Amino acid sequence: MAVSLIGPISTPPVADWIDPGQLLADPYSSYERLRELGPVVYVPQFGRYLLTTHPAVVAAEQQSETFSSFSNTNLTMMRALGGRPMLRKDDPEHADERSAINPTLRPRQVTNVWSPHFAENVEKWIDHLLEVGPADADLNLDFAAPVASQNLIDILGFPASVNVEDMRRWSTNYIAGIGNILDEPEIWRRCEESQAEVNAVLDELLPRMTKAPDASVTSHLLQVGLPDDVVRANVHLTISGGMNEPQHMITSMVWALSNHPDQLTALRTGDAEWAAAFEETVRWLSPIGMVPRETTSDVDWFGYTIPAGANVGLLLGSANRDADVFANANEFDITRNARGHLGFGSGVHMCAGRWATKAAVGEIAVPRLFERIPNIRIDESRPLHWEGWVFRGITTLPVTW
Ligand code: HEM
Repeated sequence: MAVSLIGPISTPPVADWIDPGQLLADPYSSYERLRELGPVVYVPQFGRYLLTTHPAVVAAEQQSETFSSFSNTNLTMMRALGGRPMLRKDDPEHADERSAINPTLRPRQVTNVWSPHFAENVEKWIDHLLEVGPADADLNLDFAAPVASQNLIDILGFPASVNVEDMRRWSTNYIAGIGNILDEPEIWRRCEESQAEVNAVLDELLPRMTKAPDASVTSHLLQVGLPDDVVRANVHLTISGGMNEPQHMITSMVWALSNHPDQLTALRTGDAEWAAAFEETVRWLSPIGMVPRETTSDVDWFGYTIPAGANVGLLLGSANRDADVFANANEFDITRNARGHLGFGSGVHMCAGRWATKAAVGEIAVPRLFERIPNIRIDESRPLHWEGWVFRGITTLPVTW
């Protein structure tokens, strides 16, 4: 039976002009054109229906029985991670796995258990940045990537034999695999290599954690008695997003504030809130531009028909620039109310790591960086580099002081 939201119903407009090169250079101008076409648009190059507006995305997240996260056709994530994690399941199976990790990622637990680790890691890597800079300092390589990696090593309870370069490599390989729709063999080879390395760590770690549980995400997955393959799939999932996105948030936030010096000054004088600056950065420069779903039946959605079994993309990056919801949506403004942004998704799959990231990046890494290196600024004489649109961030950010 077709699910109907609003009538009358018609076929979605087609965006055959989408240019992947332009999406990489600046996704926001393409998102704007897509929203002008309507809340549902078909993109033949991707074989995908895109939901472009804030209301269309939020409503789909609320109706997961129709916009399912389970797919037997969209299998890149399963291949990249070597198993099916919670993110590619629907409730009630998804809820069993998600509820295992929630207790250790709630705000109070983040403050009491994880923030002291985050603070220690940030001091160490600011020391490192000061040692290597300023001449060739790259904020991503020398600070954001190692901080995000060490924070995740701690959250997962991985042993000291795992270093920040291991975590960065695994996360980067998994993210490339999740996006490997062109089926490039070299990307799969690297994913398999990373899976083998992570599994070797888990072979030793899981029996030890079974005997001596701790606060880590890995231990929490074990404590509720999930099967071994399910524990591993979710550890691989956490590695993929749990390092890459916080890394992007650190560089994006520093870049955004450096380009809006008045707002940075307001933060320094206490006239604006770091928490608000963090949320506004997630809205304005969403690290995850799109999340996939698959329709389980024919759907009439905001006036347009989507057939059963269709690949659907919820365009979080576009919804977060929807001017009907956020006034002057293309402007970075830390004084706005960015609540309701979809940078962490919404509904049952809303990011499990959002409070940890807010503390790690918004309360600790970025404020401490500007405090300890007050004169830090982007080095315009060297090129910076943005990468991706589904997973988007600055991968080279030259800085000086
Ligand atoms: C800026 C940083 C981050 C961003 C922007 C982000 C974004 C997201 C988004 C958009 C989703 C939902 C995907 C969907 O609905 O298909 C998600 C899910 C998830 N995130 Fe994050 N994430 C971040 C950091 C983290 C961290 C640090 C962790 C782990 C400590 C984490 C763990 C997870 C997990 C386990 C899920 C799956 C939740 C579920 O299926 O119920 N994330 N994240």
